[in-house]
Amino acid sequence: MRHYSIFNILKKLECRKYYSTIESIERAVGKHAANTFISSMDKNSKFIDVPTICVHDPANVDVWKWEVGLNCRPKLSIDELTKMGKSLEDPFNLVEKDICTLSGGIKELLGSDHPVLEACAKYFFDIDGGKKIRPTMVLAVSYALNASLTNNSSLNLFALPSQKRLAEISEMIHTASLFHDDVIDKATTRRGVPSVNQIFGNKLAILGGDFLLSRASISLARLRNVEVVELLSTVIEHLVKGEVMQMKPSTIGNSAMEYYLRKNFYKTASLMGHSCLAASVLGGHNEETQRATYLYGTYVGQAFQLIDDALDFEGSTATIGKAPLADLKSGLATAPTIFAALEYPIIEKLINRKFEYEGDVEHALELVQKSNGLKLCKELAQVHAEKAIEAISTLSPSLAKDSLVALACKVVTRSS
Ligand code: FPP
Ligand code: MG
Repeated sequence: MRHYSIFNILKKLECRKYYSTIESIERAVGKHAANTFISSMDKNSKFIDVPTICVHDPANVDVWKWEVGLNCRPKLSIDELTKMGKSLEDPFNLVEKDICTLSGGIKELLGSDHPVLEACAKYFFDIDGGKKIRPTMVLAVSYALNASLTNNSSLNLFALPSQKRLAEISEMIHTASLFHDDVIDKATTRRGVPSVNQIFGNKLAILGGDFLLSRASISLARLRNVEVVELLSTVIEHLVKGEVMQMKPSTIGNSAMEYYLRKNFYKTASLMGHSCLAASVLGGHNEETQRATYLYGTYVGQAFQLIDDALDFEGSTATIGKAPLADLKSGLATAPTIFAALEYPIIEKLINRKFEYEGDVEHALELVQKSNGLKLCKELAQVHAEKAIEAISTLSPSLAKDSLVALACKVVTRSS
């Protein structure tokens, strides 16, 4: 019998594009072989040789609605949130014993026989800076969920080894995205030190980010949990999508806000939400708990990005560790500007031309400061923090649960 393979067939088809596919296969391998081939393919054709054009988001994604905060006002004042954040268990103290080994643990995953690649990938972990909010969340969520598994309060502050590894993976993915982001944004400073592209150059910053991402992927696969692999792989797609959405100009008015909040979900909230969800999947918790932790992480993520965007107007290099006004200068309209445009429609014109004309950045800044834009942006962040707290209200009471409430408060009351 004549030997044929998909490669042979495709090779022959390359020079016979004018026939229908079936005709071409017949001409390439003969009618009988073609029939056998096609009938065997039909059964599985949706699984093989079909390019993937759509990967549906994991089921839990649809529980987050972008518009959820817009029709609400915060229930608590900012002073009350600050007080609550200070009165409850501090999340960073609570997870300290696991966080202090995090950078070291990540560095162990980044060994390479190429010293420059290794140094580049380890750059931020050698400095051991940054807020480490993602691993802190993963660990505190893990502690809170694991607390319900034991009644002994002295034993209940623990994360499983897989959850600790997840905390590292989450931080590695985040750091990889910052390597790439700083190249795209031409940033010179990050976390109060020169950015990785500044030290190693753009090419190594991109490749170092890829290396970090690949080691994160290997570590993820070694968790041997397919659902968690799917969740975190989806996050990587979301990070890319968020960044591309940010590059594409948005329209103005309500749809500008919708576009902005969706972009924030992909860029920031998805990693936090899915990391919390993955922690609860690894702990073997039920769907209701998984949903609660996913929502918690997603709302905190959205609040975090809103405050980040407010701090871009109000902070300084000393407080935020990066140059302020970076958004306007790179042509981006974030929540303070989008809200300000409702009061000062002239801003729409500046948004549309990406603040490119001389004096546009200063003009937009002046109008944002005169408007309620920053106030509304922070209130929207507060609403999201309150939603995050509400989402975990069903978890059993514990010190770790308190620390999650405190974390949601701290995210919106932070100044750095
Ligand atoms: C910071 O945004 C950037 C992100 C949160 C995500 C960046 C994602 C990519 C570059 C896609 C590639 C992803 C991977 C995983 C390699 P920002 O510029 O608003 O914040 P900043 O002021 O801190 O720079
Ligand atoms: Mg940036």
